[in-house]
Amino acid sequence: MPVIAVIGAQWGDEGKGKIVDLLAEEANVVVRFSGGDNAGHTVANQFGLFKLHLVPAGIFSTRATAIIGNGVVMNPGVLISELDDLNQRGVDTSRFFISDRAHLVMPYHTLLDGLEEESRGGKAIGTTRKGIGPAFADKAARMGIRAGDLLEKEVFKERLHHILKQKNAILTRVYGVEALPEAEIFNQYCQYGERLAPYILETTWLISEAIARGDIVLLEGAQGTFLDPDFGTYPYTTSSSPLAGGACLGAGIGPTQINQVLGVFKAYCTRVGSGPMPTELTDETGDLIREQAQEYGTTTGRARRCGWFDAVAARFSTRINGYTKLAITRLDVLDNMPNLKICTGYELDGKTIDYFPSSTTALERCRPIYEELPGWMAPTTEAREFDQLPLLARQYVSRLEELAGCPASIISVGMRREETVFKTPLWE
Ligand code: GDP
Ligand code: IMO
Ligand code: MG
Repeated sequence: MPVIAVIGAQWGDEGKGKIVDLLAEEANVVVRFSGGDNAGHTVANQFGLFKLHLVPAGIFSTRATAIIGNGVVMNPGVLISELDDLNQRGVDTSRFFISDRAHLVMPYHTLLDGLEEESRGGKAIGTTRKGIGPAFADKAARMGIRAGDLLEKEVFKERLHHILKQKNAILTRVYGVEALPEAEIFNQYCQYGERLAPYILETTWLISEAIARGDIVLLEGAQGTFLDPDFGTYPYTTSSSPLAGGACLGAGIGPTQINQVLGVFKAYCTRVGSGPMPTELTDETGDLIREQAQEYGTTTGRARRCGWFDAVAARFSTRINGYTKLAITRLDVLDNMPNLKICTGYELDGKTIDYFPSSTTALERCRPIYEELPGWMAPTTEAREFDQLPLLARQYVSRLEELAGCPASIISVGMRREETVFKTPLWE
């Protein structure tokens, strides 16, 4: 039975939450492996509509254990509100665990995220201001505090004292703002620790035992490939790896243990925050997609930038993640579009190129080269079999598969769990 990594193949918000919720019904373990509460994963199922930031979308499954992996940075206050909301709405959270190695988002991380953004002026990244960059920077700088530290109050106290001295020096002397109160943070985080203690443990054994039993394990990605600090549009990226490679590190399993890498693409492109996006539409077609699809950020409510499907980026995404199958979401959003475009190349400084440049300034100069396809102009949300989709919709999907270089398994035609077409089985 497979271990499946579910990966954001574009700039995030591809519909990973929906896909994980759908697959989790048959899974035994679901692990979130990267990011933090910058993520917003929407799930619409029999329990209602949820926007999850930290809890894995597998939490609704009748059988799966949901795990926040070591690769996640966790804001405990946000997590507790999320758990309370789930409980109030009748969702069972008794099979939920947090890796003791997951780093914590501290009050100075969120504060510094905002201050750093303001200091960037016109070059701001457009972060979610959830403290994600500063928390991962501290992890790499060996200045982090981990979930497991909350279980050892004396260790936590000493670490917080040492780290906060440095953070307060930066806050007061670099940014000229007030220092943060140590005792208040200590007490607050001790309370969080008491509340979360039953969930915090060493989680790799849970995952490896599940794999050994032949259980279905889902690795839930956050963000998307072009927000990866190595392969994304650096510096307009996030700070942890959303790639399939990141799934191994962030869950604590070896690369040979992943059987399927499912690349989740929207049938078009969106991006929230700053940075290049070659197929962005700043005209009425872009507005039409945004309004039709209600493309507003799940975490920050910001309007998402919308554009046509970028097959140059898609091919690169397939290459660096090694997708075995694709999920194509939001096909229904294109139901009323008479003409569709797919970007098959870029024009850069008068030359035609077919690769995704690493230089952000080069990418900003890229002009998309489009091929046009006729729209199907018919509803798709009721389709449950591939054959039930209009011929032109099937042709559009086939062209995306061909250009992205990988066959699709799942076509999503609506936000709800059941609004899905399995083109081919994801596993036998
Ligand atoms: P994620 O971060 O990748 O989980 O994606 P988000 O939840 O941020 O954004 C995806 C949005 O698309 C959410 O509002 C979903 O409810 C919605 N969605 C997912 N799949 C479909 C689909 O096939 N059709 C439509 N219309 N909406 C979808
Ligand atoms: P999900 O998991 C879309 C973007 C932010 C910003 C950049 C850096 O829902 O797909 P950060 O707060 O991470 O330092 O911001 O990354 N970003 C996302 N965009 N979906 C997400 O997550 C995102 N998480 C971060 O908008 O451009
Ligand atoms: Mg999202």
